[in-house]
Amino acid sequence: MASGSGSNFEAVAKSIECGNLNAKIAVLIHNKPDIQAIERARKRNIPTVFLDHRNYPTREDLDRAIVAALQAHQVECVVMAGWMRVITQVLIDAFVDRVINIHPSLLPSFPGIRSIEQALAAKVKITGCTVHLVSLEVDSGPILVQSAVPVLPEDTAETLHARIQIQEHIILPQAIEILAQRLFHL
Ligand code: GRF
Repeated sequence: MASGSGSNFEAVAKSIECGNLNAKIAVLIHNKPDIQAIERARKRNIPTVFLDHRNYPTREDLDRAIVAALQAHQVECVVMAGWMRVITQVLIDAFVDRVINIHPSLLPSFPGIRSIEQALAAKVKITGCTVHLVSLEVDSGPILVQSAVPVLPEDTAETLHARIQIQEHIILPQAIEILAQRLFHL
């Protein structure tokens, strides 16, 4: 599931393509029409499903549509790879302990939006990224993998995010592997 550039989606796809991750991306679900993630999926012949959140009166209604699309594509695990909507119990209940999220901070520090700006404002010297199992509270749930990234004195939100993303692209495939091993005893 993606709402943006899909660089994390791409990292997972590449990890599969080079044989590092034994998985298949069954479908990309996106909630915005013109994002780069779509092209990344299409060039790999991965199906895409557009669910515009503005068409659903409640978050639960959107999640019911997401669950239906995931089940139609026989999805076993759900990866929120830059999914910018708050999810509900509807999705969590349909995929218990099978939904993961990637977040650009060392949780539990700086949950929510603008976490990189929050880290810069707090003047932390080390930040990073986290992949965790999703629970109802935003950016919480048991942590699967983290990676630390030093904050440099000259960092802007853009430069820091770019270095965090390098680490995200490493730990997201690792987290999927860990989840798969747990679930399927691979
Ligand atoms: C990542 O920084 C992720 O941590 C956050 O949203 C961003 C998505 O980036 N949740 P991309 O679309 O994968 O490039």
